[in-house]
Amino acid sequence: MSVEGEKRHAAEAAAELVEDGMAVGLGTGSTVAYFLPALALRGLRIRCVATSLRTESAARELGLPVEPFEELDRLDLAVDGADQIDPAGWLVKGGGAAHTREKIVAAAADRFVVIASADKVVETLEPPVPVEILTYGATATLRRLAPAELRDVPPSPDGGLIGDYLGPVGDPGELAARLAATPGVVEHGLFGPELVSEILIGRGSEVGRRRI
Ligand code: A5P
Repeated sequence: MSVEGEKRHAAEAAAELVEDGMAVGLGTGSTVAYFLPALALRGLRIRCVATSLRTESAARELGLPVEPFEELDRLDLAVDGADQIDPAGWLVKGGGAAHTREKIVAAAADRFVVIASADKVVETLEPPVPVEILTYGATATLRRLAPAELRDVPPSPDGGLIGDYLGPVGDPGELAARLAATPGVVEHGLFGPELVSEILIGRGSEVGRRRI
């Protein structure tokens, strides 16, 4: 089974978790790109929020109703991909530069389900760890984060610059605390296990499920 096939299997399994009447958070990335049509096919009466403009437009094209994430104060379920998943359930996210909105959506959801192909499972998390930083003082912020660099991508829809922390990850909890405590950092791409409810991994033609 190809990596794309594994992503699709995990995404289709996640679409089965959605129930009529739910408020659903839609993640970003190539795995979520399989989730959106699978969800649309179910024809459920749901409300959705999107973690990026590309997810928003893809969802709308499929007929999924996307609303601004300003009025809903909680979500029943959010589904998103990951760049790396470690044995304790720590994730690195933000390869697609959407980690700030993704973390807000994950934190607002009663249940945050991660979908991925088997190649995303790692023994230990490795750099880069994505960061979104304020434009104001960006060079000074990068210096405090060193080694870190800006990515050659447009700013986030919320105006932040996208970069990567390139040093060792070590204990992800300690690094997450350090990144979060650095003035100028809007959000970083380390997602702790406390955010994650369940991980669906496409492995060959099977889907492995891990509750965190
Ligand atoms: C977007 O910013 C990321 O967090 C993605 O969710 C993550 O990179 C997974 O993307 P793929 O499904 O494309 O691997």
